[in-house]
Amino acid sequence: MELIYLDHAATTPVLPEVVEAMLPYWTGAYGNPSSTHQAGREARMALSAARDRISAFVGCAPSELVFTGSGTESDNMALFGAAEAYRERGRHIITTQIEHHAVLHACERLEQLGYEVTYVPVDRFGQVSPNDVEEAIRPDTILISVMYGNNEVGTLQPIEAIGRLARERGICFHVDAVQALAHVPINLRELPVDLMSFSAHKLNGPKGVGALYIAKNIRVTPLLYGGAQERKRRPATENTAGIAGFAKAVEIFDRNRYEVQQKMEKLRQEMVTGLERRLAPGQFVVNGHPTEKLPHILNVSFPGISTETMLMNLDLAGVMASSGSACTSGSLEISHVLKAMKLPDEVTQSAIRFSFGPGNDSGQMAAAATAVETIISRLRTKG
Ligand SMILES: Cc1ncc(COP(=O)(O)O)c(C=O)c1O
Repeated sequence: MELIYLDHAATTPVLPEVVEAMLPYWTGAYGNPSSTHQAGREARMALSAARDRISAFVGCAPSELVFTGSGTESDNMALFGAAEAYRERGRHIITTQIEHHAVLHACERLEQLGYEVTYVPVDRFGQVSPNDVEEAIRPDTILISVMYGNNEVGTLQPIEAIGRLARERGICFHVDAVQALAHVPINLRELPVDLMSFSAHKLNGPKGVGALYIAKNIRVTPLLYGGAQERKRRPATENTAGIAGFAKAVEIFDRNRYEVQQKMEKLRQEMVTGLERRLAPGQFVVNGHPTEKLPHILNVSFPGISTETMLMNLDLAGVMASSGSACTSGSLEISHVLKAMKLPDEVTQSAIRFSFGPGNDSGQMAAAATAVETIISRLRTKG
């Protein structure tokens, strides 16, 4: 049985070229980048080349990019760091109901610490309205955090419009671009954004490596205290191999950006068409925005068949997908994103996220759609 991996929004395989780029920093060039001897200098050069590469990819100055240990850390650093740095101006933060838990749970903690947080709603496609954000702004608002593209349904947010509102009022604006990095061209020179989070493992890089863009005029209080690494913004001995791998992954995406995007769109469409051909009308519904979307994520509900049942049966058929939402103590929670979209229960309780990567092909889309068809007809006859 061929295994079909359709969970690239969760994580992606590390490309062989990326592994190759990382190897020297575990073996020959294993020096600490802070050491002044030759081995240290070699590691430092790798860090600086990686910073140049990734900052060029997102259009910022190398000095504006801080390497972290994950997308989660980048989000936490942005939220706690800006909240503390701008505390004297106010205690109000705006975010949305559909953020990743790395932002939502950080906001809940900030509430416990005395900040007030407004969670702006979304429409039925999972999109935030800049008007709602504008209405939520108060004289004491110090930070707005809105994700670029949603990790469960793929909906893109009106980042530019919200950024302009924030800029006009001098409010710090953070964007979680963890899912968007590989799939949407990002030019920080033009975007009205002050802080942006990234993670390497969503684009065929290693796990446990992230970055946070901090615009040069923006203050962020560090989460960690220690040495002078990352200009004291994130002290700790740098993960040289991981960072070199992140840069290689970015280089590969940069080289193939157009082809990858076209391929993701094609695969997504083939999956939808494959389901349309095999299933009766009403047997599935696509969740998320029809046009404003990340190309690699397809969220589909199969009303009447629970998410757990479908996932388990898909797994038995060799198709690896996801619910997109958190799994707590072995049982699936209904997704906060689908809840915020106010979709009917039969839709929220039966949602599956398929997410694609450059390694997938058309044959796999057909095979996955056939697996869904077989599962549905088997469950219907049983049921
Ligand atoms: C939108 C978004 N933000 C943050 C994260 C967290 O990134 P990491 O897994 O690197 O901690 C994820 C990971 O799924 C994500 O999809």
